[in-house]
Amino acid sequence: MKKLLKIKNLTLEMTRRCNYTCPHCMRGESQNYDLSIETINKLFDNEEFTLVEVEDIFITGGEPFYNPEAFLYLIEKILNFNVQVKDFGCIVNGSIYEEKVMKSLEKLLLKGVNVKLFTNFDQYHFFEDSVVAKLRQYEFYEYRKANINNDLLYRFGRAKANDLGDVFLTAEQEEFFYRYNHSYMRFWQDKDYLLVRDLYVTAKGTFGNLVTYNADYEMIDSMCVRSIVNDSLFDDAIIKLENLSNFISYDKYERDKKVKILKK
Ligand SMILES: C[S@@+](CC[C@H](N)C(=O)[O-])C[C@H]1O[C@@H](n2cnc3c(N)ncnc32)[C@H](O)[C@@H]1O
Ligand code: SF4
Repeated sequence: MKKLLKIKNLTLEMTRRCNYTCPHCMRGESQNYDLSIETINKLFDNEEFTLVEVEDIFITGGEPFYNPEAFLYLIEKILNFNVQVKDFGCIVNGSIYEEKVMKSLEKLLLKGVNVKLFTNFDQYHFFEDSVVAKLRQYEFYEYRKANINNDLLYRFGRAKANDLGDVFLTAEQEEFFYRYNHSYMRFWQDKDYLLVRDLYVTAKGTFGNLVTYNADYEMIDSMCVRSIVNDSLFDDAIIKLENLSNFISYDKYERDKKVKILKK
């Protein structure tokens, strides 16, 4: 039977192409891949599941405005498909103005989605004033000073992942685990839904349980090994909570720590 799927953090690489070659870029060299319409369709509805809710969608790249067709298609899909979205964020480099995408984002906002589009104002980017002036007309656009931690992120022009993400557990949910090659996919199941905490979908159409978008393409590809269009999200062995690796123990430790802090 088809499952109803909820995702907490969904990150989508709109494209791996980019019009800039910033020296600090964590991604490495641009690559000629665009998120496809087929991947978007399969992510919303397929033989295995129907997507019903996403707490936070984050669009990254490459330069997301380099793939306006898929960007528009995604927004229309959210608007027309019966899926609830709370937050929708996107980071762009401030060099391209995509009127149609901006107008669609405005529609998302009117539908009650918390839309945020931003450019990081940092020492490595340069901006087109005329583009930024146009983007600034929109209330959901933010031109913000980036908080770049050079020590942690700027290493020979490539950043290292340093963010383990939020803890997403409630006592009522039964916890399951699916194993993918050398990485894991974390799911929780309650009586009605299947919940995924972190799903990262690349411009190649592959997916994985990547909890950060601060990574280079090489690392992303090592974590995202299955294809949304061709592979199953669920067909690997389920490992029960008791048998989990250190990675989980770490999360459990963090959760226990949080609980203690709350109790103080
Ligand atoms: C990877 S880019 C993708 C989106 C878009 N192309 C852009 O530049 O905003 C996202 C953000 O990551 C930042 N970034 C890239 N490499 C970084 C690094 N090594 N350390 C810190 N931030 C980095 C960029 O400055 C940009 O603000
Ligand atoms: S930081 Fe953004 S704009 Fe600069 S090269 Fe990387 S992806 Fe492109």
